[in-house]
Amino acid sequence: MNIFKSLFQTIIPAKKRDSWRQIKNKYTKQLQKVISPESLDINWIKKENSWLLDNFNRPIISIPKALMSEKIEKLAEEANQLGPEPLWEGYENLQNYPREVKETSRTANQVRTNQKVGNFYAYLIQKRKPAIVVEFGTAFGVSGMYWLSGLESNNFGELLTFDPNQIWAEIARKNLSGISNRFQLVNGTFEDNIDAYLGSDRQIDIAFIDAIQSA
Ligand SMILES: C[S@@+](CC[C@H](N)C(=O)[O-])C[C@H]1O[C@@H](n2cnc3c(N)ncnc32)[C@H](O)[C@@H]1O
Repeated sequence: MNIFKSLFQTIIPAKKRDSWRQIKNKYTKQLQKVISPESLDINWIKKENSWLLDNFNRPIISIPKALMSEKIEKLAEEANQLGPEPLWEGYENLQNYPREVKETSRTANQVRTNQKVGNFYAYLIQKRKPAIVVEFGTAFGVSGMYWLSGLESNNFGELLTFDPNQIWAEIARKNLSGISNRFQLVNGTFEDNIDAYLGSDRQIDIAFIDAIQSA
């Protein structure tokens, strides 16, 4: 028997399981109303065991590997080999920030975008052809390298990325430079710097907000 099914049956009592099924059916019906062929133009990205995919029959697109993906992964692995690097000290001033997150360090692999999602970013850039991609939270530059991969394929556009962590930003700058020079990395918070760097006459085509979700 499927391990998840058996876990589901062991952990969740029969009564609860029934109500979970009812909820699922209710939302499936509601979603089916919203995601009707006329109302929304969407495609699914291929993913196994997807409840959405099972319930909403749609074309499936598979995402190709990003340009320079081997090089990106090699640089990401080298950054990871550096070991844990300290978090931005500004986290300590945040209200209600979990105690265990304070005064700790992270490796690149602990915070990075994974390869599958990175390939999707590069694909998205190739499809949308943005002039400006803004990223909040550069970290070690892994997501940034994938954005740059897409911009390089287009031979157009730039990445404006922000991170207040000085140590991480230096590592990221080296990584991003290994892929393209179509970027500006600002070592500071996005909220303190976005106005100065974006300018009121320029619009953001894609914004990637990946700053404090580890809270
Ligand atoms: C989850 S990591 C980003 C991971 C990265 N986007 C990737 O996928 O490789 C979050 C980053 O947000 C940064 N950060 C936290 N607050 C920020 C702020 N106000 N503005 C910009 N970056 C911030 C942190 O220093 C940290 O490097």
